[in-house]
Amino acid sequence: MSRAFADISFTPSVKAAQSLYGSREANRGFEQVEEKRDSLLAQDMEFIAARDSFYQATISENGWPYVQHRGGPAGFLKILDNKTIAYADFSGNAQYLSVGNLFASDRVSLILMDYARRRRMKIWGHAKIVHEEDDVRLIARLEMPGYRARVERAIVITVEAVEWNCPQHITPRFSETEVQGLLAKLLAEKHQLEEQLTQKTAPAKPTSLGNGPLELIITGVRQLSPRIRAYELRDPAGKDLPAVSAGAHLRVPVLLADGQAATRPYSISSAGGQTDCYEIAVLAEPGGRGGSMAVHDLYALGMHLHCDFPRNDFALHAHIEHAAPAVLIAGGIGITAIKPMAAQLSAQGRPYTLHYAGHTLNTMAYRTELQMQLGASLHLYAADQQQRMDIHSIMKEAGQDSLFYICGPASMIAAALNAAAALGIDPQRVRFERFAVQKSNQDEEIRVELARSKKVIHVRADQTILQAVRAHGVVAQAECETGNCGTCAVKLLGGQALHRDAVLTEAERKDRICICVSRAQEGELVLDL
Ligand code: FES
Repeated sequence: MSRAFADISFTPSVKAAQSLYGSREANRGFEQVEEKRDSLLAQDMEFIAARDSFYQATISENGWPYVQHRGGPAGFLKILDNKTIAYADFSGNAQYLSVGNLFASDRVSLILMDYARRRRMKIWGHAKIVHEEDDVRLIARLEMPGYRARVERAIVITVEAVEWNCPQHITPRFSETEVQGLLAKLLAEKHQLEEQLTQKTAPAKPTSLGNGPLELIITGVRQLSPRIRAYELRDPAGKDLPAVSAGAHLRVPVLLADGQAATRPYSISSAGGQTDCYEIAVLAEPGGRGGSMAVHDLYALGMHLHCDFPRNDFALHAHIEHAAPAVLIAGGIGITAIKPMAAQLSAQGRPYTLHYAGHTLNTMAYRTELQMQLGASLHLYAADQQQRMDIHSIMKEAGQDSLFYICGPASMIAAALNAAAALGIDPQRVRFERFAVQKSNQDEEIRVELARSKKVIHVRADQTILQAVRAHGVVAQAECETGNCGTCAVKLLGGQALHRDAVLTEAERKDRICICVSRAQEGELVLDL
């Protein structure tokens, strides 16, 4: 206990009480201690600077004390020097109880609490009210950054006594910030343990997938855009790979999240004719059928993939006049099929232009590479920069003698086919490849009779005929499952087909249907299955 505290607090009536209750002798010693403690020590200042609240008692002229709780950002009670502390008095409820009391008596008593560490500090002092016009620099010094209320006045307290109490009867309490600080370490440890547990329990990633005849090893992985990753594939022994032409695709094995083994076709985006390696680029589609996510999750350097041999359902025209200009149109990930076409046309010295559309320049795979290689032959369209690709104008300008190759979303292909029809362009001069099954919100359930199997099945609106046929145990061949290859085409025995493939000719469409994409015009079909 300090002498200054005893000098102030041990009034005659207090001493009388001490005498009455037998503690006078014990307390008398405090009045003689050497240390006066009427100013702040370093540890006092550190404690004050960390407080975000305190209690302040003032005395009214009728003798009633008034205790006020004051709160603010930590450190709002400022230390001006070792004898002076001060705080800003903001505009409040306009009762002015504490301020009014200071008009009558400048004596204040403060209690500062640290509940978390069970510490309590008491300060006695003389308080002075200072207005802005009296000391503008002081007011500025007491302002709290980010606290927008107006400072009406400063309360400056000259310290007369400092006293610390024992922690007895202080219940530990913690502010939200203190709790967060304590929890942060625990949460970090919990996170670390969870990660260790995940690593221990996660199934080991496969080192080999598939059972196709072409074994390849992943020798390179490149992130082309935030969602597109390219994989370089080579023969494990370094031998040459089967030669492919532009537009070819490779069917690769995937292990879906539900543990099911499947295969997915991806365009070979490396140049046709390149036999030391293939490159495929895969767009991660969280809402897709799971293949692309499985590739992104599991494909890693050194993994062996047993693939099918490449095939090409989207080749450049081989038998049309060599000098016919080619117009290449790509949307999004469709560039993977179009890019090698540009390389092949360049190598053959054939005239072409490439029109490439995407959401933003940064998400357009191979953009920089194409800009460097193709120069003025490349036209980019970034939707976020309001650069719209006008397919009708492009095809009109190119003219009926051009050859057209389109790979992109269904809407892009539909626009190209509509433009070709409107411009009288021979359908034989327009080739396209979809990279997803074309669907329509207007699709309804259809009834399909399988004549040879003697079954009638109902194909839900969200199903393809191929999926429904297989779900009923009927074997049906398929390859691309996007209407590009014709493998799934079956004889149409009855009903009117709604053709959505990119492979059947008009003549073939009279009695054949690609069941991986096409549906019925009037709700019913009879198939030779
Ligand atoms: S499986 Fe290729 S068109 Fe249907």
